Amino acid sequence: MYSHNEYDFSLKHIHLQAMGKGATHSFMLIFIAIFAAFLAEKSSSSLEADFYKSTCPLAEKIVRKIITKAIVKDHGLAASLIRMHFHDCFVRGCDASILLDSIPGSKSEKLSIANNPSLQGYEVIDRAKAAVEAQCPQTVSCADIIAFAARDSTTLTGGAGYSVPAGRRDGRISNESEVLENLPFPTFTSTQLIQNFAKKGLSAKDMVTLSGAHSIGVSHCSSFTSRLYSFNSTHTQDPSMNPKFAKFLKTKCLPISKAAKRGLDPLVALDVKGVYHLDVKYYENLMKGKGLLRSDQTLVEDPWTAWMVERHVESPEVWREEFAAAMVKMGRIGVLTGNQGEIRKNCRVVN
Ligand code: HEM
Ligand SMILES: *[C@@H]1O[C@H](CO)[C@@H](O)[C@H](O)[C@H]1NC(C)=O
Ligand SMILES: *[C@@H]1O[C@H](CO)[C@@H](O)[C@H](O)[C@H]1NC(C)=O
Repeated sequence: MYSHNEYDFSLKHIHLQAMGKGATHSFMLIFIAIFAAFLAEKSSSSLEADFYKSTCPLAEKIVRKIITKAIVKDHGLAASLIRMHFHDCFVRGCDASILLDSIPGSKSEKLSIANNPSLQGYEVIDRAKAAVEAQCPQTVSCADIIAFAARDSTTLTGGAGYSVPAGRRDGRISNESEVLENLPFPTFTSTQLIQNFAKKGLSAKDMVTLSGAHSIGVSHCSSFTSRLYSFNSTHTQDPSMNPKFAKFLKTKCLPISKAAKRGLDPLVALDVKGVYHLDVKYYENLMKGKGLLRSDQTLVEDPWTAWMVERHVESPEVWREEFAAAMVKMGRIGVLTGNQGEIRKNCRVVN
């Protein structure tokens, strides 16, 4: 409705201006208006499924083949690639800024403690890009390759298949210091998570649905040990954590100071029921106090999100479809399209 009114207004505006001038001038104005509309359409044009069907018809197939091979060899990669898409999209939009290497005088996103050393999978994206480049030079963006890889990882781990709207362009900037101000912290409460996702145009429902990605993959102890040993001034242990689960985790993770002294930071499954299957067991865990991160457990502590968790437990099939839809929505955050940005030749460096 709003944009419709705006359109009416601009047409009237042009018309009024044109009336006062000569015929040539009014033609010029109409031409400019059409051209401006065309440009606006170009740069804000939304993503399209099958975007490469005429320019690189095999692109998605090539990516899928390489990603599948890599995940068959190393099952943990699926989690890495889904997380990579999330970390890319939340910082400067889905523009492959996550893939740029640092250059002298400018540290890139990869170096942020949110990504280093926990985020893996850069090499497999390099391989997919090289294979696509060999077929269609400088045609398929690195940002789209991440989105395809995240989709393939989703389906390979048991999630729903979905088509990926594409046409993203690659950004030219990657700045380490922008990462922590955009990504949510594992210590966030439900309210903080909702606010963080809202800044990216995602709802509380999207946030809860996407958190189901934590049904696969692992976390370093350092992301949650404060819940075990130094929660707050009145509770050494987070009371929302199942005590038996806490006891089990204490056998895996030392207090931060001791772990640091020994240079240890072990990995623990985000979902105690299994690391390779994308499913609603994550939500079942939460209802038993077995969420690993505080940001997981908080989803059932807050009544506003708790009913969403219960709903996912009750309808696993609905969650599967909603997860796919939420991935598509996340994949639209701040994208560059049309002639914005560029198509990198090598995902690690700007052209
Ligand atoms: C809701 C806010 C979120 C927070 C606070 C959060 C935080 C974290 C943290 C701290 C880790 C463990 C990192 C480590 O210590 O190794 C992790 C892992 C992971 N996250 Fe999230 N995350 C969130 C949402 C998401 C979303 C939206 C996705 C994707 C849709 C996602 C996908 C993953 C995956 C798959 C892993 C496992 C990575 C691996 O095994 O390599 N997370 N997350
Ligand atoms: C990176 O971002 C920070 C914080 O937003 C800013 O102060 C800094 O100038 C940026 N660095 C570069 C190289 O653009
Ligand atoms: C510590 O955490 C518990 C549980 O969340 C809470 O009830 C208590 O008020 C907190 N104490 C302080 C000092 O923040």
